[in-house]
Amino acid sequence: MTTATKITYTSTSGDLDDFHRHFDLALDRIRAAAGASYPNLIGGEPVSGTGAPLDDVSPIDTSLLLGRFAAASPADVDLAVRRAKDAQRGWARLPWRERVGILRRAATLIRERKYDLAALMSLEVGKSRLEAMGDAEESADLIDYYCGQVEETDGFVRPMGRITPIERNTDVLRPYGVFVCIAPFNFPLALSTGMSSAALMAGNTVVYKPSEDTPWTGLRLAEIYHDAGLPAGAFNFVSGRREDIGDALWQHPGVDGVVFTGSKAVGLRIHGGISQRWIKPCLMELGGKNAAVITASADLDAAAEGVMRSAFSLQNQKCSATSRVYADRTIAGPFLERLVEKTKAIRMGDPTQRDVYFGPVINARAVERFERAVAQGRREGSVVLGGDRLRGGVFDKGHFVAPTIAKLPLSSSLFREELFVPFLAIGEVSGLDEAIAESNAAEYGLTAGIFSANQAEVDRFFDEIEAGVCYANKRSGATTGAWPGAQAFCGWKGSGSTGKGGCGPYYVAQFMREQNRTVIEL
Ligand code: UN1
Repeated sequence: MTTATKITYTSTSGDLDDFHRHFDLALDRIRAAAGASYPNLIGGEPVSGTGAPLDDVSPIDTSLLLGRFAAASPADVDLAVRRAKDAQRGWARLPWRERVGILRRAATLIRERKYDLAALMSLEVGKSRLEAMGDAEESADLIDYYCGQVEETDGFVRPMGRITPIERNTDVLRPYGVFVCIAPFNFPLALSTGMSSAALMAGNTVVYKPSEDTPWTGLRLAEIYHDAGLPAGAFNFVSGRREDIGDALWQHPGVDGVVFTGSKAVGLRIHGGISQRWIKPCLMELGGKNAAVITASADLDAAAEGVMRSAFSLQNQKCSATSRVYADRTIAGPFLERLVEKTKAIRMGDPTQRDVYFGPVINARAVERFERAVAQGRREGSVVLGGDRLRGGVFDKGHFVAPTIAKLPLSSSLFREELFVPFLAIGEVSGLDEAIAESNAAEYGLTAGIFSANQAEVDRFFDEIEAGVCYANKRSGATTGAWPGAQAFCGWKGSGSTGKGGCGPYYVAQFMREQNRTVIEL
């Protein structure tokens, strides 16, 4: 059940017959299992909801009911926090090697189940096959990479210097207690796994809420942790509506920390509200408005390919997606021509099908956001490609909109607002100075890319750009494709709260607090 090549977000379709065969079989299995009802999992026990359940439908075909999920109430959240608290001491008391062992088993299980997980995410999110498999593979790699951080530091135990000969000093990192993990829809396995596995291996227990759009993938993660040997209560699965339990989760006094990936508006609300009795750790990854800068010396084919891939893979629904381009006036015309040509060649349709690159957006609200952006783009500039909902055949069944490119004046707010839909804003600039100034004018600071043949320009871009994840000349994706251990995913400014990123070397330590131990030798 494994393919020789590991699929990542930068993989392109090549000789992947074996992959597609396994994927087809998994898709049949997931479709056959669709439509069941699921409870929440609290303290290892099933807990049914009292209100109307959440209907999990595919954005590819909204008549396909993937599952019906119990909607948690604030009382369920309270129970989950109490169960997590009950389980936490025992979990933290285990030798760290045992915790790491259980989590490494979870990584192995993800790899064993990766086709089913990828097929499920393709149906639940509307991801292409390669994007979906990238998500599954990244999840397993995230766990292994984070386990490595605990191993390298001997469980975060560090002998310290002494100021008298009779003392022995040790610095240790210890868990906070109960972490609430709130995950988004777009990487429903990788982002959920990354945040929760780091919290767990640090010795915390978790109350986890998946996105309302992707509870089934979240439940599969709960099953993986269970099958890997995680004790009951260490990971509590709570699906529900944001308006019912969103605030109850992070406002619960028993919660010791929150990790959240989602919109800046919600992140700011949590960050502003969580520290009431004392200051609590609040790890936020809050989206982006990521710019690609195309200089006069750029390889225009590489630039157009890189921008097309990062603007339209997963329908732009990545925090890392390129959503604006600043092109030097002298090459803007030919660059745009190539970009339009490459975008027109994108294969659109049902993304569970082989070689379809571009699928639906996640829900009706995203379609509305797209339509509003296009209307504004038409008022302020010109839409050079796309601009409409896709109609006919498969497109009538789900939330499909066209990959869209708009030429806009630099003053347009469409260069600054995160949209999370396939709408790419293009502006012309007089040179690198203006490109950097415009890029930095947004409140976000997640990813950024430059295409330039001039090393001095690249160096200046890296030094002056206000973003945590920076790329130069990346044809396989101008601003996307970060991978555990290769690119730390750190959001600056409105894109994050801690100055240290997931996928990076300092991640796990953020789920822990320092304790210094001085012992006077007798
Ligand atoms: C996100 O979109 O929320 O670098 C984060 C990338 C992906 C991004 C995941 N790893 O493109």
